[in-house]
Amino acid sequence: KKVIHIVGARPNFMKVAPIHKAIAARTSLQQLVMHTGQHYDAKMSDVFFADLGMAAPDIHLGIGSGSHAEQTAKMMVEMEKIFLKEKPDLVSVVGDVNSTIAAALVTSKMGIPLSHVEAGLRSFERLMPEEINRVVTDRLSDMLLTPSRDADANLLKEGIDPKRIHLVGNVMIDSLLASKEKADQLPTLKQLGLTPRAYVVATLHRPSNVDNPKLLAGLLSTLIHVARKVPVVFPVHPRTRKMISEQGHGPELEKTPALKLVDPMGYLEFLSLTSQAQLVMTDSGGLQEETTALGVPCLTLREETERPVTVEVGTNEVVGTDPARIREAADRVLSGDVKKGRVPELWDGRTGERIADLYARVLGVEQKRAFG
Ligand code: UD1
Repeated sequence: KKVIHIVGARPNFMKVAPIHKAIAARTSLQQLVMHTGQHYDAKMSDVFFADLGMAAPDIHLGIGSGSHAEQTAKMMVEMEKIFLKEKPDLVSVVGDVNSTIAAALVTSKMGIPLSHVEAGLRSFERLMPEEINRVVTDRLSDMLLTPSRDADANLLKEGIDPKRIHLVGNVMIDSLLASKEKADQLPTLKQLGLTPRAYVVATLHRPSNVDNPKLLAGLLSTLIHVARKVPVVFPVHPRTRKMISEQGHGPELEKTPALKLVDPMGYLEFLSLTSQAQLVMTDSGGLQEETTALGVPCLTLREETERPVTVEVGTNEVVGTDPARIREAADRVLSGDVKKGRVPELWDGRTGERIADLYARVLGVEQKRAFG
């Protein structure tokens, strides 16, 4: 029996690595990794395979960037050919990027069983491209593997058969726990001249934030405000880099050397940075979860989150995009008034194993090792 895993964009790689590893160790399933090429820069893709100890993808579609319709459609055309040739018994998709929805559409139309890892997350913001990808992928999936109970509740409310929902935990945290020791040994802080717990890490890449000139200007002004107090490291996504340059923010940012704009980082290098930060300010989804697992305070620069467990249980606070409110929240954390958090249930580093065992059971293949 054969499983094909789909990856495409940066946040997919750390989710597929632990599933792939656990399937190889625990089952006799055949597996292939298909990379759509949605992210193609070495810093957005290749470095993650090296950092996560993953072999190069078995199949690479080389699709690249484009409008949503163009990118998704090109992926679908190529995937259909590969699925016809490879005849997978299961296609496993992760997350909520365009590669995820492209694979979900092709797989379900071909009558191939589809599993969605990280099912059930909802921001209830239909203008967010990822929300459309989540809703459609979940609707089409035969197996919905959820990271937390709030996701189960969302799916049940949408009328999904409870038999198809499996609470497996957060697979991205498997990668984090497996990599932390290696990351801790990197000289990242020394290279950047930083002291543990005395700097802030910032990331921004959501189109709703960075493609809106007024919002982008306001968010950058909050980073400048924070950098007047403590150093801020800001690895810049290609989309954001483009907007900063188009909007002419370069000179203004250069006047604040404590705000360090750097290229996107590899997985281990970035983990070494976030795990020792005093505060993380971000509009990323995955980083809200990673900071919760690490117990590092996080301010989410968006109006809503599809990951409410990071707020209810973890260290995350959703502070919106109003600069005054962000400054106030950052000042509070930097003065030592931090939100304490716990790690949510099943974010234990064993989600990949639970998924491998579930796939083996569903596909009726022999398990080399039982869970436990
Ligand atoms: C995608 C995901 C988003 C995820 C993010 C993580 C969708 C709809 N969005 O957004 O959920 O949080 O990845 O990074 O799937 N570009 C490069 N090099 C690359 C890739 C992209 O320069 O390797 C530039 C191109 O100008 C491209 C733009 O970034 O047009 C956007 O890339 P795209 O894949 O469309 O979406 P992301 O913003 O990266």
